[in-house]
Amino acid sequence: MAPEKQVDAKPGRRAALRATMALIVFVGLIALLVFLQPESLYLWVKAFHVIAVIAWMAGLFYMPRLFIYHTDAEPGSVQSETFKVMEKRLLKVIMNPAMMISWALGLYLAWDIYGFQGGWLHAKIALVVALTLAHMHQSRAVRQFAVDGPRKTARYWRLMNEIPTVLMMLIVILVIVKPF
Ligand code: HEM
Repeated sequence: MAPEKQVDAKPGRRAALRATMALIVFVGLIALLVFLQPESLYLWVKAFHVIAVIAWMAGLFYMPRLFIYHTDAEPGSVQSETFKVMEKRLLKVIMNPAMMISWALGLYLAWDIYGFQGGWLHAKIALVVALTLAHMHQSRAVRQFAVDGPRKTARYWRLMNEIPTVLMMLIVILVIVKPF
């Protein structure tokens, strides 16, 4: 019997199950906090918001790196098939849930604390919409690679990798400095 490989379906299912369990615990904890309404609720929600944002950013920064090396891998090769599994799991198990939790908790904070008022908050949300478009662009590329569809160049993905980085810097400055 050939030894099990990480790209095989079984380890993939195990990873997805573990991630689902973690997500249920994470969302369950937030629901419990909102139910219990501790005085420090705002700080707990902000902490979970930043945790989700860090996971989302990790995915947005790493995915274009996979694309850069995937462009060199011959369609149908073992390497290309391995990249497909890595890209799909990064998107489905980490990036999508992290993006949804970042949005849900961010909008909760914006509504509960600021009543959606503040120039910095409006500018921040506009930049997060741009970040979400970058996420959707990467998600579409995962699907393109998965069907061995037309590919962008490695240079294209190196440039694309800069967009989430610049957006992240501007977003963090806006929310911490609140310049306007
Ligand atoms: C998805 C839409 C988002 C909304 C509506 C949103 C909204 C907010 C709000 C209202 C706060 C509380 C600010 C305070 O009390 O000082 C906050 C905190 C924070 N947000 Fe977001 N956010 C979103 C996404 C993001 C993203 C994508 C990032 C990073 C790239 C980010 C980084 C942060 C940080 C670092 C804090 C903590 C700031 C502090 O403690 O001073 N947020 N967010």
